[in-house]
Amino acid sequence: MKEATLPFVTRLTSPNPVTIVCTQKPDGGTNLATVSWWMPLSFNPEMIAYAMAKTSFSGECVRENGKVVLTVPAAPIAEHVMSCGTTTGHDTDKIADFGIETQELEGCDIQVPAHSCVAIRCTMKEYVEVGDHYLYICDVNKVFADPEEPALFAWDGYAKIAPAQQA
Ligand SMILES: Cc1cc2nc3c(=O)[nH]c(=O)nc-3n(C[C@H](O)[C@H](O)[C@H](O)COP(=O)(O)O)c2cc1C
Repeated sequence: MKEATLPFVTRLTSPNPVTIVCTQKPDGGTNLATVSWWMPLSFNPEMIAYAMAKTSFSGECVRENGKVVLTVPAAPIAEHVMSCGTTTGHDTDKIADFGIETQELEGCDIQVPAHSCVAIRCTMKEYVEVGDHYLYICDVNKVFADPEEPALFAWDGYAKIAPAQQA
């Protein structure tokens, strides 16, 4: 084996998972951001974690109110996954500007994208500084699923968004 870098090996681990992190903005609206670095942590109690750059607007929102929904986007919204991952809620109203259709989740005032195959409603428990990111550790409040919606993944590292069977 040859010495490599973490960015390089993300191409070898493709397809990588991809989620849309949905948070509540100070004005009550929803911000959407694309995140590949997430993982389940515990089944009992149900817990998950995800990592976001310290500078992310999503991070500001969840550190403010502790509320977050992680969704797994499905095939019809591949284009939105890339848009939400290349713009910031600091200066963009992503739902309005990209015309993203949303749906409501039971017991939740954060909107989630239509065409999601999974939605995990969470309360942030704590966050930990990890280099240039924060790791957000979350209690799962409720999990929703739509098995009819085919999940998207990130290919070529994080360069392309496509379902597993079509990439
Ligand atoms: C496929 C893909 C995966 C991404 N994964 C992550 C990630 O795991 N963590 C992260 O901090 N940013 C990730 N990003 C970049 C963020 O989505 C991007 O920085 C975004 O502008 C953050 O939005 P916000 O400032 O509104 O929170 C990813 C982008 C793409 C396109």
